Amino acid sequence: MAKFIVEKSGPLHGTVEISGSKNAVLPILAATLLTEERCIIKDVPGLRDVDVMCDLLTALGATVEKDLYNNRVEVESPGEIHYEAPFDLVKKMRASILVLGALLLRTGRAVIHLPGGCAIGERPIELHLKGLKALGATIDEEQLAKGIVDAKADELHGATIYLDFPSVGATEVIIMAASLAKGTTVLENAAQEPEIVDLANYLNKMGAKIKGAGTDTIKIEGVEKLKSVSHHVIPDRIEAGTFMVCAAITKGDILIKNMVPSHLKAVIAKLRECGVDIETTEDGVRVRGNLNPLVSTDVKTLPYPGFPTDMQSPFMALLTVAKGPSVVIETVFENRFMHVAEFNRMGAGIRTEGKCAIIPGDKQLKGAPVIATDLRAGAAVVLIGLVAEGQTEVSQIYHIDRGYEKFVDKLKALGANITRVDD
Ligand code: UD1
Repeated sequence: MAKFIVEKSGPLHGTVEISGSKNAVLPILAATLLTEERCIIKDVPGLRDVDVMCDLLTALGATVEKDLYNNRVEVESPGEIHYEAPFDLVKKMRASILVLGALLLRTGRAVIHLPGGCAIGERPIELHLKGLKALGATIDEEQLAKGIVDAKADELHGATIYLDFPSVGATEVIIMAASLAKGTTVLENAAQEPEIVDLANYLNKMGAKIKGAGTDTIKIEGVEKLKSVSHHVIPDRIEAGTFMVCAAITKGDILIKNMVPSHLKAVIAKLRECGVDIETTEDGVRVRGNLNPLVSTDVKTLPYPGFPTDMQSPFMALLTVAKGPSVVIETVFENRFMHVAEFNRMGAGIRTEGKCAIIPGDKQLKGAPVIATDLRAGAAVVLIGLVAEGQTEVSQIYHIDRGYEKFVDKLKALGANITRVDD
């Protein structure tokens, strides 16, 4: 198994360029199936999740030309496509569910085996299905009970849909399906993440009529057909946030290029509360952790524009060394404190109680063998490794490969002492 070996490093200095957004490109790639014509996607990050989505599109019958060296993917699917997503791909990545609407529209049916075999377990998709039902799809409830989504629809029609929670995935699936439905769809309590706006911009370039993306009410007027398009993916706000924390935790000075500060308002506000200096210049965003002492703050994760759940573990890494105690409340996912056990192996002394984590702060951490328990938690243990005494050995780094392009190269260029060891 591949590992990262991280050694205590001094303050990180230099410039880092942010890659295209993982969470924007996955729905955009899924949406290429909405047209038979060629779609050209640029600024695609070279990530494992992108490979899985490209493999899925190929398995469904699309022709995918992937040139991740140049961050470019071209997809076309002029022929028939299959309605069933292979389980061995879906189990690798939950975002495979994003092809649901396109399969229904292209084939009249969509069959997707959910990983874990349960549709109502952790990370449920009942909101995606509620939306598709409102648009006219029927879902086989017996199959669903076995963990298989089997949806059918001769035709989709517009509807007014209220999401009980602003789910990112449900919003994306519904926007895609409604783009080619007959009539107008109004989606209320929609997710407002920048990735939703990027998907809507992309679909509008293809000829869709979507208004209000980025607000809680999205109106989609169905069109007959979508066409060929070329699109640049937005920069990854979570990767940018991770490098901001990197500058802060190592008391470094990093210029972050290709970052959209307005996508990270909550993270920037919280970093400033901790004493981090952040300045937007013509060249990018300069983040300095070396001007003031790091102090504690409390954080509560929320749907956008609140503090992103994907930044919770990297930010908690920072709070372990800040002066004073902090409280982190996770409201988006019920089980997103798995990294705490790993942080504690390094001496963080964090206690959790339900949705709350209490971080005593001000700890001198010690390197240890730790696990990347998920994608963002993987980046978080690397960040701690940069300031912990001695050596930190991070295993299960395939999680990190899912979402951070050239993570080791980018960190090394900033002066980090990190090596990848491939077995
Ligand atoms: C997306 C992101 C992920 C991020 C998350 C929240 C992608 C590929 N992934 O995941 O990185 O952490 O948004 O910002 O874009 N929920 C339900 N019922 C549903 C759907 C969701 O209860 O039908 C719950 C989930 O269990 C979870 C919460 O809503 O607790 C957020 O989920 P959602 O917004 O759907 O996240 P994803 O689209 O899976």
